[in-house]
Amino acid sequence: MTLFSIIVPTLNESENIDLLLTRIYALDFIPDSFEIIVVDDGSTDGTPNKVRDWAKQSNIRLIERREEPDLSASILTGVAAAKSNVIVIMDADLSHPPEQLSAVITPILNNSYDVVVGSRYITGGSTENWPLYRQLLSRIGGWIARPICDVNDATSGFFAFRRELASNISDHALGYKILLELLMANQGKIRVTEIPICFRDRTHGTSKLSLFHQQAYLQRLITLAGGTVTLNTAGRFAAVGLFGVLIDAFVFQWMLSRDAGLALAHFVSFFFAATVNYTFNSKWSFREHHAGYLYWHQFGRFLTVGALALLLRGGVLAFLVYLCHVPPLFAIFPAIITTAAVNYLGSAFYVFPNKKEP
Ligand code: GDD
Repeated sequence: MTLFSIIVPTLNESENIDLLLTRIYALDFIPDSFEIIVVDDGSTDGTPNKVRDWAKQSNIRLIERREEPDLSASILTGVAAAKSNVIVIMDADLSHPPEQLSAVITPILNNSYDVVVGSRYITGGSTENWPLYRQLLSRIGGWIARPICDVNDATSGFFAFRRELASNISDHALGYKILLELLMANQGKIRVTEIPICFRDRTHGTSKLSLFHQQAYLQRLITLAGGTVTLNTAGRFAAVGLFGVLIDAFVFQWMLSRDAGLALAHFVSFFFAATVNYTFNSKWSFREHHAGYLYWHQFGRFLTVGALALLLRGGVLAFLVYLCHVPPLFAIFPAIITTAAVNYLGSAFYVFPNKKEP
């Protein structure tokens, strides 16, 4: 009986696949207790032929995808074809030690957990020979995911889970974030644990992780967290903000010319500009994003964020001028940038968030 299925996605791994399969078969698993499914995405270096040779004599299957290459889609294809209810995912490049397969699978087989993550970032875990920039990227990827998915290594590619959990994964699951999708799709309903692993960077072949994958990871995290940060909303928000500055200055001058006091002119011009900004932001910049708030509720949030940003602007200005002795003419720029960033992020996460996925 097949107790667990090992899914190995491959894209040009001919130098690694034999070594990986040899190491897996050297383990003392009962031969019929597992299967290996290699999901290849159009490798041009002979990887499928090597897997076919293995498939003649063992419980290995090769699935060759014909669609656009994608890591998450490959893994999901493998999951759909698996014979068993316990799935383990691992890279083909030997960066995940096959000798730790047992540690990742056992807690699922004995029904202690639903997802087990092979983690580099808990006590006992480590990375070896990984370039510093990759370590940094991976760490940052883990840190920013931490608040929403509560594991230390959300970008790990070595993890095991119950097969039925994959059916909840969103259609947006693409690229290098399948674990994150799995955890988010089943949040609150699963028992998750991490076990330490030693990740060793590949010695043959090259990584396929691109800037596009990293940007997609970040964008997806923001969406999963309910935020609406996109180039589109940022550009529109900036345009509305600049328009708001003009309105603010115009109303301020007009009030002063009507003999209004400084405080009154300041308050009225701020409120007027904020109302105009809110209207344009809700009807244009963030028009696709509605978490279902009532108008006044949302407007209240917008004013709160604006007021906080204004306070922060004063704080940054005072800090730079009085404590760092930066001339006010220069200090105003970082203060403005801080205000703009707080305003935008406050709008994207608090005023005009998406309804939470998945
Ligand atoms: N089928 C398929 N399709 N496989 C792919 C694709 C694809 O589009 N892209 C990559 N792979 C396979 C590789 O052949 C390898 O077996 C595995 O996925 C990992 O890809 P790498 O490109 O080597 O990843 P890495 O070493 O840089 O590591 C990063 O990704 C891993 C994903 O599992 C890191 O972020 C690790 O944390 C992560 O484990």
